[in-house]
Order: sequence, then structure tokens, then C-alpha cells
Amino acid sequence: MSGTGQKGLAFKCLPVQIEDKRRRRIEIRAYEAADFEALQAMYDTFEPKGLECGLPPPNDQVRLRWLHYVVSELFNVLALHKGLVIGHCALDLAGGSFCPEYLIFIRKGFRNVGIGTALSAVVKRVAEEAGCEKIVLTVRTANRRAINVFEKVGFAFCSGIEPCRDMELEVKPGKAGRGKRGRK
Ligand SMILES: CC(C)(COP(=O)(O)OP(=O)(O)OC[C@H]1O[C@@H](n2cnc3c(N)ncnc32)[C@H](O)[C@@H]1OP(=O)(O)O)[C@@H](O)C(=O)NCCC(=O)NCCS
Repeated sequence: MSGTGQKGLAFKCLPVQIEDKRRRRIEIRAYEAADFEALQAMYDTFEPKGLECGLPPPNDQVRLRWLHYVVSELFNVLALHKGLVIGHCALDLAGGSFCPEYLIFIRKGFRNVGIGTALSAVVKRVAEEAGCEKIVLTVRTANRRAINVFEKVGFAFCSGIEPCRDMELEVKPGKAGRGKRGRK
């Protein structure tokens, strides 16, 4: 089974090509139903599992259920290298959510080379086009790399110092307003 996921939304800021810090060509584009197995493969081999708010779930069955939920209910963006899914992020744009929660995971071997920053910057533009007021997330205080990425694109802490902290990003809705429904 593969989810429909994107609810017919299309955004001007997608797709985009970037070069990572190792000069690899990375494609950033919206998830499509045909990507499900490749995305599942990324999470099956993802390490470490369960560290960030229990995600990605370590248990195979729970992880599969979680992934079906993510692709069917959230707006998903992939980063691909030579057809391999090497990054995934998602934003809850369903039901006119103006303050969606953000999640992001990059495959080992592709971390720390600028891909998470590029994906987050694209998702910020998606949120602008969708007319969101802010994006929110929860991150482990010890996850300095993730915090660095989120601060670079404009997230700021909005909760006190705890093992996990909430961050939010104020979004200026773009002139384009809500993402267009319908296939590109
Ligand atoms: C966190 C994550 C999404 C970041 O994406 P990424 O592609 O690795 O990050 P980038 O390469 O774009 O940027 C990392 C930045 O943090 C910096 N950094 C790396 N380690 C750091 C550390 N220990 N402390 C502070 N900064 C650090 C890098 O120098 C880089 O900044 P620069 O480009 O200004 O030099 C990715 O590493 C990942 O998926 N990790 C595992 C899952 C996870 O933590 N998800 C987030 C859950 S909230």
C-alpha cells in the first residue's frame, strides 16, 4: 500500500536541485505515491532509530504504520541522490493547519553536508506559499546539529530548557497564498 499523501497540493518552490558540500547533485521534490517503497527502505536502514521523540519507530510494524500515516496525512518532501531517497521531511498541511509541525530525517552518509539545511529552507518556502503563520517542532536539547540547522532557517526556541525543547519559525505568507490544488 502507498499513501496518496500530498492531497493534490503543488508549490512553486518545488522541485529544486542542489549540490551538497561533497558536490553531489541532490534533487528535492514532493513525495509521490510511487516513492513509498524507496522511502520505507530509507527508514528500515535508518540509524539511530527511536532517538528523536521515538522516531523513526524501532519496531518494524509500528514504523510501517507510522510511515503510512505520514505519507497519507502530511505534506512530504524528499531529497534524492541518483534515485536513492536520502532525506525526508514532512509538514502537516492537512485541514487548513496554519501552525504545522515539522519533521526531518537525513540518511547516514548524507548528513552534515548541507542537505538538511536545504530541505528546511524549501519547507519554509512551502509554508509561506501555503499561508501558514508558523512552523513548530520539538528537538532534543542535545541534538546540536539539528538545532543549528533549524536556527539557520529562522527557528527560535519557544520553551524552557528541558531534555526536549520546542522551536517555532514565524512564516511570512507569500503573495501566492495557499498551495494550488491539482497536479503540476
Ligand atoms: C539533524 C539533521 C536533520 C540535520 O541535517 P543535515 O543535513 O545533517 O545538516 P546540514 O549539513 O544541513 O547542517 C548541519 C549544520 O550543523 C553544524 N553542526 C554539525 N554538528 C554540529 C554540532 N555538534 N554542534 C553544532 N553544530 C553542528 C554543521 O557545521 C552545519 O552547519 P554549517 O553548514 O553552517 O557548517 C540530520 O543530521 C539528521 O537527520 N539527523 C538524524 C535525525 C535527526 O536528528 N532529525 C531531527 C529531529 S528534530
